Amino acid sequence: MEFYEWLQNGDADLTGLNYAVFGLGNKTYEHYNKVAIYIDKRLEELGATRVFDLGLGDDDANIEDDFITWKDKFWPVVCEHFGIESTGEDISIRQYRLQEFDEIPDRVYTGEMARLHSLRNQRPPYDAKNPFLAKIKVNRELHKTGDRSCMHIEFDIEASKMRYDAGDHLAVYPVNSSQLVEKIGKYCSKDLNTVFTLINTDEESSKKHPFPCPCTYRTALTHYLDITQNPRTHVLKELAEYCTDPAEKEKLKLMASTSPEGKALYQKWIINDNRNIVHILEDMPSCQPALDHLSELLPRLQPRYYSISSSPKLYPNTVHITAVVVEYTTPTGRQNKGVATTWLSKKIPKEGEELPTAPIFIRKSQFRLPTKPQTPIIMIGPGTGLAPFRGFIQERDNSKEEGKAVGDTILYFGCRKKSEDFLYEDELLAYENKGLLKLHLAFSRDQPQKVYVSHLLEKESDEVWKVIGENNGHLYICGDAKSMAADVRNIVLKIIQEKGQMTEQQAQAFLKKMETQKRMSADVWS
Ligand SMILES: Cc1cc2nc3c(=O)[nH]c(=O)nc-3n(C[C@H](O)[C@H](O)[C@H](O)COP(=O)(O)OP(=O)(O)OC[C@H]3O[C@@H](n4cnc5c(N)ncnc54)[C@H](O)[C@@H]3O)c2cc1C
Ligand SMILES: Cc1cc2nc3c(=O)[nH]c(=O)nc-3n(C[C@H](O)[C@H](O)[C@H](O)COP(=O)(O)O)c2cc1C
Repeated sequence: MEFYEWLQNGDADLTGLNYAVFGLGNKTYEHYNKVAIYIDKRLEELGATRVFDLGLGDDDANIEDDFITWKDKFWPVVCEHFGIESTGEDISIRQYRLQEFDEIPDRVYTGEMARLHSLRNQRPPYDAKNPFLAKIKVNRELHKTGDRSCMHIEFDIEASKMRYDAGDHLAVYPVNSSQLVEKIGKYCSKDLNTVFTLINTDEESSKKHPFPCPCTYRTALTHYLDITQNPRTHVLKELAEYCTDPAEKEKLKLMASTSPEGKALYQKWIINDNRNIVHILEDMPSCQPALDHLSELLPRLQPRYYSISSSPKLYPNTVHITAVVVEYTTPTGRQNKGVATTWLSKKIPKEGEELPTAPIFIRKSQFRLPTKPQTPIIMIGPGTGLAPFRGFIQERDNSKEEGKAVGDTILYFGCRKKSEDFLYEDELLAYENKGLLKLHLAFSRDQPQKVYVSHLLEKESDEVWKVIGENNGHLYICGDAKSMAADVRNIVLKIIQEKGQMTEQQAQAFLKKMETQKRMSADVWS
């Protein structure tokens, strides 16, 4: 931010500065790679010399491929620009130096994000570097039947002094499955109890270690490293060096190459077949990487975010989430399980036992109810997209109980079957019966033809227009980013066009204005 503002506001003379920009973005966002595009242009305006054309990476497709394709053209141009001769060799240099300990040192990390023992000696304020170890008071199943599972979880935050608003996100730091961790230890022939440190060879770097060190290999694999993503091609390239079987080595090298054949194989064998690092080591028995090197190569395990499904007006001391358990079979017949949701699904409070815990923090969001409760709202949230709206509805109900005038509160919810996955059915029907909530329900599999929330919206175009066109109301979308959010947006556009008698362009401008006025917001994920 500081750099961006400095570039934007300042009038520095950057003559003599050579630069090239590659942006990390995602095409599903409206402002695709906007910052990279701006910086590339602005540096030139300030007198710097662009050594190579701007590159843009799209995380919705294959961002690593975008980068490698760009990088392959970037180097020859850089060499020519600076009069450097390239050897043509592609050598890899380790960023970190290994130190292993025969005797266990005093300070050994066991899963903390920053401060040693921070999970044992808890000290506010709590944030991403210093998560709060919250007790799980409730963890119950929301689906009535069927083989899928959706959890309602309540985290106790009373002792944390953390505050939240309806619409905020809860971040959870999960841990990896111990079975997968042990398998990696076995395939790398390493004692996972060994304590090690990785030290940056660049002594001036502000990042001394890739994750909190020293720790055991087991801690690194359990808490700090992502071992279930599809590995990027640069990891495969390094793995190839550890293969003793020439066929396996060649296959890995090919997948790491930028040739069309290599890219196609990577797409098929890694992405489509959905192999993670454990599957690769399983299917390539001659590949036995050094575990310290693998620890340097794998990305960091990220916290998972959940839309908070409660309101602090009703629940100041607990934060609720509504999470679907991820589990699926891959084309190679393996059972893949979501890291965080599988881990959470086992954290069930039991009578007479200490409550299970999880490290959490709260992330503020822009997803907010209108300041005045009289303002009418439409909420569109099929599946777990319902989550933040449960908090919104609780809040509106609270306003009504306090005697305030509350505007139309309309919810579009959808799921497979009324008898199977209608989340919070009793609560929602009770709000409807008491006259607070108007419900539009789409059960996709309860009749021969599919019915989705977008179909219902289309049918209710008069009501939609009344809220957003005539009464200055708010419209919210939450849930699946890929198809649902785009579908709903298109239908809303159509309604604005028809009911507001506008051209497509005018309708687009109308929606845009709603967004800038925060009358239309989305909380979506894929
Ligand atoms: C802002 C935000 C809010 C969110 N709110 C919620 C919420 O309220 N409720 C909720 O349940 N989730 C929510 N999510 C999603 C949540 O953060 C996690 O991504 C989700 O719970 C899965 O995490 P996991 O660790 O269990 O799975 P992971 O181990 O991360 O695995 C998930 C990955 O597995 C792959 N995958 C999943 N299913 C399949 C399949 N059938 N076939 C092939 N590959 C598959 C996909 O690549 C997916 O990204 C939200 C995400 C964001 C960014
Ligand atoms: C909260 C959030 C906002 C984002 N906004 C944009 C955006 O405006 N434009 C864009 O091109 N990508 C956007 N992205 C996508 C990221 O820039 C892109 O996916 C990137 O590769 C993410 O890398 P990371 O997940 O390692 O942080 C956004 C991602 C997140 C999570």
